[in-house]
Amino acid sequence: MKSFTGFLVVLSSFVMVATAGNFYQDFDLTWGDKRAKIFNGGQLLSLSLDRVSGSGFKSKREYLFGRIDMQLKLVAGNSAGTVTAYYLSSEGPTHDEIDFEFLGNTTGDPYIVHTNVFTQGKGNREQQFYLWFDPTKNFHTYSILWDSRQIVFLVDNTPIRVFANAERKGVPFPKNQPMRIHSSLWNADDWATRGGLVKTDWSKSPFTAYYRNFNVQGSTSSRYMNGAWKSQQLDAYSRRRLRWVQKNFMIYNYCTDLKRFPQGLPAECR
Ligand SMILES: *[C@@H]1O[C@H](CO)[C@@H](O)[C@H](O)[C@H]1NC(C)=O
Repeated sequence: MKSFTGFLVVLSSFVMVATAGNFYQDFDLTWGDKRAKIFNGGQLLSLSLDRVSGSGFKSKREYLFGRIDMQLKLVAGNSAGTVTAYYLSSEGPTHDEIDFEFLGNTTGDPYIVHTNVFTQGKGNREQQFYLWFDPTKNFHTYSILWDSRQIVFLVDNTPIRVFANAERKGVPFPKNQPMRIHSSLWNADDWATRGGLVKTDWSKSPFTAYYRNFNVQGSTSSRYMNGAWKSQQLDAYSRRRLRWVQKNFMIYNYCTDLKRFPQGLPAECR
C-alpha cells in the first residue's frame, strides 16, 4: 500500500508540472534587449532596469476568465523609484485592464502594492496596500481570479481586493475582451516612492525582479480560455482574510476618497 501511495504522489506532481507554464512557450520578451531573460530551461525569468532602459514581457496567448498565478521576487535592496508592473490587458482605446504594480522603496521601507481595474478604457479605481512580508526575500504568489461575476486579487492565496460585477448599476465589467499577461520593470521616480520625493539610485543598478511558476487554470486548447470558466465564491475563511488585509494593510481606497469625487463616489462603491 505504501508504495502505491508513493506512486500516486509522483503521478499527481507530474500532472502539476505538465500544466504549469514554461516561459519559452508561453511568453515573448517584448522590450529591453538582453535585460529580459529566460533561464533554467524556461522555469525562471528575470527583468532588469538600468539607466538606459527597463524591460518587459507579455504572454503569447490571450485569456478570457480564469485563475492566473505567478510567483514574483521583487527588486531587493534600495528599489526606490522602480516600478514592477504585472497586469492583464486587452488592446485598443476601450481596453480592459487588471493591474498589480509594485512600487519600490529605500532599503527596509515597505513596498506599496498598487492595484487598479480599467473597464472600457476607464480606470481611476486604485486601491493600495502594504504587504505583511518582505516581497524581496522570497518568491510569493500573486494571482488574478477572473470570471463574469468578479475579479479577485490574491497574494499568497489571501484575497486583498474584490472588484464585483456592478453592471446592474451601469458600471461596465471586463467580460468580452480577451487579455494578455504583461509585465515590465521601469523607472517611475517621478511618482513611485513617497510620491516622487525619493529618486532612483542608479549606482545600485541594474535592478532585477524574478518570475517563476506561472500557472493558469481554466485554460483550454482554444485560442483563449473557455469563457464558461467559473471560480468558486470566496469561502468564509477567505472573506475573513480579505477583511484582515483591508483593515490592517490597505493604505488607499478610491471608494472612500470623497475629496477626489466631490460629486459622489463611483457607482460601484455605493
Ligand atoms: C516607503 O516608505 C515610506 C516610509 O515608511 C512610506 O511612507 C511609503 O509609503 C513607502 N512606500 C512607497 C512606495 O513610497
